[in-house]
Amino acid sequence: MSVHSSANIKRITTHILQEMKNRGEKISMLTAYDFSMAKIVDDAGIDIILVGDSASNVMAGHETTLPITLDQMIYHASSVVRAVSRAFVVVDIPFGSYQGNSSEALRSAIRIMKESGAHAIKVEGGAEIKESVVRILSAGVPVMGHLGLTPQSIYKFGTYSVRAKESVEAQKLLEDAKLLEECGCFAIVLEKIPASLAKKVAESVSIPVIGIGAGGNVDGQVLVVHDLLGITQEFKPRFLRQYADLQSVMMDAFTNYIKDVKSRDFPNESESY
Ligand code: KIV
Repeated sequence: MSVHSSANIKRITTHILQEMKNRGEKISMLTAYDFSMAKIVDDAGIDIILVGDSASNVMAGHETTLPITLDQMIYHASSVVRAVSRAFVVVDIPFGSYQGNSSEALRSAIRIMKESGAHAIKVEGGAEIKESVVRILSAGVPVMGHLGLTPQSIYKFGTYSVRAKESVEAQKLLEDAKLLEECGCFAIVLEKIPASLAKKVAESVSIPVIGIGAGGNVDGQVLVVHDLLGITQEFKPRFLRQYADLQSVMMDAFTNYIKDVKSRDFPNESESY
């Protein structure tokens, strides 16, 4: 099997993602929140782009993902969708727009799909949001689940440390994953849980399981693009592999520009009309 066997596919769909799991081809997923970044990520051949509510942290500078609004997520998502021609685009439903009220959940999901043109939505949680998941799925909207460390519940957890290390929480997570599959979710993200538990989940459900801090024995991996690129230098969890040091590259470019402006070196004659 080639590691690039989905490379010739024109447009990734839920069906193709399922086929990738079935044949053991790993699924690649990254976040993006704007047109320019999404275009590069898509051109690179990523399978899924997640318009994550991590936009609340990396784009807006909030401490948590809780403040971002549905309108703001739709703005980010529509910018991404305009850039993408191959990847499957998934959008996080933000905190407060789906929990506890399935009618509101459906309205929020429909707004995301209609106003952004995205292909699916992602929700955080298991049994406690079942009604919302079922209602959204009944409208024909593909749903990706998210279990383990679910940042929208940070004030319940009180910490961003590894989840489901104890057997009671691990058992609930496994049951939640099976429930999400039964409801009809097309994939599940597992965040920051023991690799052995993530492996068990990926073997126990037939839908793709995408990990972040969940080890290598799952069906795919996701990272926040700013972390991978080394733009956010202050966030360095163990699970992060940083593929570039863009903060240094950008800092050099900006300081050189400032120097050239101050010294009147920029613009020169060939840069003027
Ligand atoms: O919002 C996000 O970026 C996410 C990923 C960490 C999976 O949910």
